[in-house]
Amino acid sequence: MSATEIDPQKLEAVMGQAVLDMGAAISAPLFVIGDRLGLYKAMADAGPLSSTEVAERAGVAERSVREWLRNQAAAGYVNYDPGADTYELPPEQALALADEESPYYLLGAFELIASLYADEDRILDAFRSGEGMGWHEHDHRLFRGTERFFRPGYKGNLVAEWIPALDGVEEKLAEGAKVADVGCGHGASTVLMAEAFPASEFHGFDYHGASIERAREAADAAGVGGRAKFDVATAKDFPAGGYDMVAVFDCLHDMGDPVGASAHIHETLADDGTWMIVEPFAGDHPEDNFNPVGRIFYGASTMICTPASLDQEVGLALGAQAGEERLTEVIKEGGFASVRRATETPFNLILEAKP
Ligand SMILES: C[S@@+](CC[C@H](N)C(=O)[O-])C[C@H]1O[C@@H](n2cnc3c(N)ncnc32)[C@H](O)[C@@H]1O
Repeated sequence: MSATEIDPQKLEAVMGQAVLDMGAAISAPLFVIGDRLGLYKAMADAGPLSSTEVAERAGVAERSVREWLRNQAAAGYVNYDPGADTYELPPEQALALADEESPYYLLGAFELIASLYADEDRILDAFRSGEGMGWHEHDHRLFRGTERFFRPGYKGNLVAEWIPALDGVEEKLAEGAKVADVGCGHGASTVLMAEAFPASEFHGFDYHGASIERAREAADAAGVGGRAKFDVATAKDFPAGGYDMVAVFDCLHDMGDPVGASAHIHETLADDGTWMIVEPFAGDHPEDNFNPVGRIFYGASTMICTPASLDQEVGLALGAQAGEERLTEVIKEGGFASVRRATETPFNLILEAKP
């Protein structure tokens, strides 16, 4: 291609985008460092601080912290006052970066992303072989990062918005119902539901043994271990129980055989039971998802979800952004008579399926 065919404005746009992306990528481990060393927490509600004060509060070396603060200020996460040479974490940033109980907390995402660099060679092999890579094969930071990334969204929405959007389910849970949380991971969703509905019993299932152990610890720590039980089982072999509700949170697309899972869930539900399907928000066509959230999900789907599904029997590989139409087909193929969108958030689609 000759130089005259290059549009300088388009080239500048490519370079601008790439520079933004380089800044984000190189800052990713700095978010993890800030998280692990408690730097954001040291700054929360503290007003303007010198780099020495931030370092003292976190118990780390000032010279490294000063450089870290300047990276954070360059991105606008921290405000810098040149006159006083101080740095401040504004309250909005503190909600996202320092308060693990806030629905906006997002540092888990960076822990999850860090795990992918550790697994790069293995993921690359999966591209070559086409055989996928099991969820259980990933660096352990994926499991904890996923829990910490998803929990704030569940905490903000599950009990307040999603369950009330289902037909008659909130009333049943308040009176006393039996619930299965399939593909429960570390049990964040199970524990939140058990805390909110003390008359109901909850059973979390996941094929990944280490996640089930962690879920049991989380339930005990939250004081709901008596009503939130966890067992290793797949979505196709968890024990039947006449469940009033089965829920799957951000995992149907990770399964090799989501149609088989749908059929088994259909069998295990009570006749008037409800299946709640929480999936990443997505439009039905790839181009509907070419936006900042879709970009994140396609990244996760390429490196985590699609290989996870390919690693299992059938290997349907729905991808993290299958969209409502395709999800509805899969759910109905398993035997469900009706599927509707109960509600949505910018990150999640919440579907309700009835037998
Ligand atoms: C993205 S994580 C979501 C975990 C949890 N539901 C949450 O929202 O935090 C996907 C989970 O699905 C589980 N999983 C994948 N395939 C499964 C299968 N066939 N049966 C049961 N669990 C499965 C994985 O072990 C993993 O814990």
